[in-house]
Amino acid sequence: MIELDFSTRAEIDEQMDGPCSYEELRACLRDLAVMNRLTQAHGPTMLWLEHMLCSASQNASETQAEYLKPLKLVDVGCGYGDMLRQIERWAAKRNVAMDLLGVDVNANAIRAAREAAPAVSRVRYAVGDVCACAEAQNADLITVSAVTHHLSESEILRLLQWMGRTARVGWIITDLHRMPTPYRAFSVLARGPWWHRFIRPDGLASIRRAFREEDWVRMCAAAGMQQDAVEIRTHRPARLAVSSKQPASHSRAGPDSRMSERSDVELPQVS
Ligand SMILES: C[S@@+](CC[C@H](N)C(=O)[O-])C[C@H]1O[C@@H](n2cnc3c(N)ncnc32)[C@H](O)[C@@H]1O
Repeated sequence: MIELDFSTRAEIDEQMDGPCSYEELRACLRDLAVMNRLTQAHGPTMLWLEHMLCSASQNASETQAEYLKPLKLVDVGCGYGDMLRQIERWAAKRNVAMDLLGVDVNANAIRAAREAAPAVSRVRYAVGDVCACAEAQNADLITVSAVTHHLSESEILRLLQWMGRTARVGWIITDLHRMPTPYRAFSVLARGPWWHRFIRPDGLASIRRAFREEDWVRMCAAAGMQQDAVEIRTHRPARLAVSSKQPASHSRAGPDSRMSERSDVELPQVS
């Protein structure tokens, strides 16, 4: 095997970003959802949600604030929508009212996500650039999974700044970790004729296009974020999670927020 250099980001394209038919993209996204399940790709976001919910409940009881509306969560680059459906099931189990919105620049991805959703799903979808999407405004929580390796650093700075302004409770980015071990493991896992033909080459390219902790430290600083306001964690087998929780004054439970005015609505409960 040729020794690859993981010290810098590779400038290579992914086939799923090129022109392809709706049927081809849908088949690829469906297999990506299977791969997400096998590699527990949504695990870091689900853990973070548990944590955010606990601290939102604590904040609310400390300030005697009550929740006016369901927690609004925007998933940026939602693709097939599998993570949103997992969040919808998670929220239903915990009796947490949530307004879930998936945004993707690719209209065919949104079409596939809508088609894959069960009839009972209340997840909403929108096509477009999330930073300019009116429906994505006033979010409490923002999630971004496996998207940032598709973006340039300047696009990521813009996204970080938008999330910092928009998320009232917090945001999380999870993406692949540019390291040789995940690369080798994925190379074996994605072998096999049953996978869509984009999965293996795009997955390997994604790991080489992804970031390391020092990249996130640099990009968050460039976006004007304080170092102690951002948490960066490694999650096995191959992910980095970058997250930030807004100060209480910015959040729904803070003294300036719309939440402090109502007493007739129920606080989401963590079971
Ligand atoms: C690898 S897929 C990940 C999909 C899904 N989030 C997941 O975890 O499986 C990347 C998705 O990001 C979308 N995307 C890429 N650039 C984007 C941007 N600037 N804004 C919104 N979505 C974007 C693509 O259209 C694609 O659907």
